[in-house]
Amino acid sequence: MAPKNRETFGSRMGMLLAMAGSAIGLGNIWRFPYTLGQNGGAAFLLLYVLMLVLICLPVMISEYLIGRRGGSNPFRTFDILAPGTKWRWIGFMAVLSSACILSFYCVVGGWSVKYLADACSGGLMSFDGDYSEFFGAFISNPWKPLFYTLLFLGITGLIIAFGVRKGIERMSKLMIKILFLIIVLVVIRSLTLPGAVEGVRYMFVPDFSKVTADTCIAAMGQAFFSLSIGCGCILTYASYVDKNENIAASSAWISFFDTAFAVIAGLAIIPAVYAIARMNGVDPNVSAGPGLVFITLPGVFKSMPLGGVAALLFFLTLLLAAITSAISLMEVVVAFIIEELRRSRVRAVLTSFLLCGGVGVFCSLSFGPLEGFKLFGLSVFDFFDYITSNILLPVGGLLLAVFAGWRLKRANYLDELTNCGNLNIPRWLALTIYYLVKLVAPLAISVIFLNCILS
Ligand code: TRP
Repeated sequence: MAPKNRETFGSRMGMLLAMAGSAIGLGNIWRFPYTLGQNGGAAFLLLYVLMLVLICLPVMISEYLIGRRGGSNPFRTFDILAPGTKWRWIGFMAVLSSACILSFYCVVGGWSVKYLADACSGGLMSFDGDYSEFFGAFISNPWKPLFYTLLFLGITGLIIAFGVRKGIERMSKLMIKILFLIIVLVVIRSLTLPGAVEGVRYMFVPDFSKVTADTCIAAMGQAFFSLSIGCGCILTYASYVDKNENIAASSAWISFFDTAFAVIAGLAIIPAVYAIARMNGVDPNVSAGPGLVFITLPGVFKSMPLGGVAALLFFLTLLLAAITSAISLMEVVVAFIIEELRRSRVRAVLTSFLLCGGVGVFCSLSFGPLEGFKLFGLSVFDFFDYITSNILLPVGGLLLAVFAGWRLKRANYLDELTNCGNLNIPRWLALTIYYLVKLVAPLAISVIFLNCILS
């Protein structure tokens, strides 16, 4: 049984903020713009929104619902809801996926720490030259990025070890506001650079000739990643939630904010790439990959009045956004270790740190000394990013949807959705959500996979 004295979130607002804090992170600001750039712009965005509504929102609602009903870590939750079956190994897989994601996430988190440090010392703005060299020199250094990766992971672990609730709830609230403000300022600056319009067109005028099976996989993977679904993160947070929560409404709000944030981040970066390219008389390269944000934005800050201050605030909030997401990932692993292996919170944190940090070191080195080492043609970093986002998360989502749709049964699902009839959710809406979960989402995910395998 789940222990009776488990913590719960202090308030409804606290819960919403913690989940939003998990969803809003590097996925929106760092990963979304470059994935959009690598996959043809507007057509990708359209696909992204389509997948979000048809697949990811229903999966999120289900993961939330399963977590609240089970009230434990992913492994135990499935054991409680489907005793004596193999389902709990799905829960175990979710815990492993979270650890894999954290292993490369902390590398990029480390980059944000480094940029924040340089923004503080003034080194970032006083750099005179091409920021791709600045970034390249840093990530290919054999030691420095390792230090920052482990520092980032250490800070995350420290916060978790001290207990998450109050600090994080409060921090999330403030951080989201500052981040929003700064990023809107950056958007205004980007859009007013000469030549930015081309970038806006790239983001919003679709060219469907660019859509391939890989584009669909990338859009689906990004949507899962950005919403933090498919690996037990929402499930674990939902186990700390009280039973009066309106699951569907909360999920919809979180998805909406998360997507709005991603689009705004895209608008801050893509038009700037076009403008800067025009200034230098070269072709815009929006598919530069993981370095995009770290290369483009410093240039934009430099061209702004008070750019140094903006850079400082931006990288501070980027770091905070990354930490709130990393915390949610580590909490999955930590909750599992505490409840299943019966270790103290501190030991659980230490174990997760060693595990994810150990793999993280290899991810980080794959931009430098281990550059030539490939797994299935991908660098270690890209390999972890690709298999988790594009394969493990959608497979996890598929299984969650199948569990919720076929194993929980309709009456139970609708009961959870409406809190046993206490919420005023129209019946047609509840049924639509249920059938999206039971039929549409699993089918759509399977078709996208098949399409990719066969093409
Ligand atoms: N969604 C977060 C982001 O956008 C990252 C994240 C946190 C995540 N928890 C997750 C991704 C669980 C996948 C699964 O940065």
